[in-house]
Amino acid sequence: MILLRRENILKDQIEFKMQINIVKPFLPSLDELSTEMSQILSSGMVTNNSPHVRLFEERLQTFFGSTVRPTLYCNGEMGLYHLIQAWKHKMGYTPHETFEVLVPSFTFSGTINAIVMNNLKPVFCDVDRTFVLDVEKLKVDSPDIKMIVAVGAYGNLPNLELLGKFATDNKLVLILDNAPAFGSKFKNRHACSYGYSEMISLHATKIFTSMEGGVNIVNDPEIQDYLIRLRDYGQFEKVRGNIDIPGLNSKMQEVSALVGLKNLDKVDFILGSRFKNIEKYRLFFHSLERDGLLQTMKVSDDVICTYLYFPILLNEEATSFVEYMQVNNIAVRRYYTANHELKYYKGKYRDQGLTYTNSIKDRIVSLPLHTVMSNDELDFLFTTTKNYFIK
Ligand SMILES: Cc1ncc(COP(=O)(O)O)c(C=O)c1O
Repeated sequence: MILLRRENILKDQIEFKMQINIVKPFLPSLDELSTEMSQILSSGMVTNNSPHVRLFEERLQTFFGSTVRPTLYCNGEMGLYHLIQAWKHKMGYTPHETFEVLVPSFTFSGTINAIVMNNLKPVFCDVDRTFVLDVEKLKVDSPDIKMIVAVGAYGNLPNLELLGKFATDNKLVLILDNAPAFGSKFKNRHACSYGYSEMISLHATKIFTSMEGGVNIVNDPEIQDYLIRLRDYGQFEKVRGNIDIPGLNSKMQEVSALVGLKNLDKVDFILGSRFKNIEKYRLFFHSLERDGLLQTMKVSDDVICTYLYFPILLNEEATSFVEYMQVNNIAVRRYYTANHELKYYKGKYRDQGLTYTNSIKDRIVSLPLHTVMSNDELDFLFTTTKNYFIK
């Protein structure tokens, strides 16, 4: 059996010379940047709330329709860290105090790290067939629970109305780690229009990028005010550098803002091209799903999902599929993962039952899905995947 698979792997290697990387960032050319780049450098204003950063924030506000101006960061992780910090502060807690936070175990470690680095305690919750929080299973089973951090895994979203109602009914602060979900919508509206405080990552691996970067989109002016200070060490005045809350330096700089602005000019193309590819993936993988070979992520009719990667759930443990794809020059990731099993988190925090998470954690694989893909690349990816199952 193992021998047979090796032969198949070699055969595919000989047949195809193409290579598909896990991501292919959509970026402007040097020509598109050069005029403004030289202005930025000659002005010396390369950071500290500089002109392109402010403009990028204004234009993101128009794009998302938030009531206050979004705030940009050097990366998404720092944005999420400060977003949780700002809410904790507004709730009246000092940095040394703690409470519990409902959060899916099935996410990137960055979600959980941002909670723990704020001296808060994650309570690991389950996801469902959408690979995002199973809202029906959430419980407020302790008075210590004060916050929910939901995650837009793979660009998918939970039912934002139901989750919002659960948070309001139980007086919990609700934050959305929407790092992977630029452009995703619920009932054709961005999450911020439902009152969510959200972080979207602008990392090069993401759907929309400024190379490194992250943005917090909130509707609460008080939170926005804290955020502006938190990314600047907590300073409320700059002469003596006095602070009233301890922040960190996590500001976005001009070059990233310029790249982000150039990409924002093309956001309709980026999302449009992506949706065309998503349709092709869905068509192909749904046919494998109908044959019982794998399962795809369930996306509610209410959700427009921009698919960061294309996750598939295998019927078996993923190692042999991952190896097969790798030797056939298609990079894949075992992503997301069950955080309650990561070395640091194992056994440290309680959970609310993780039956579904435990049943998928070793079978899930993310396939590359780029904004721009040639027909040859799509054919190569689909044929290689299919060959794994039919041989
Ligand atoms: C769910 C989630 N949260 C947080 C992050 C951190 O974002 P960044 O890479 O921009 O720091 C990521 C990035 O992969 C993510 O997927």
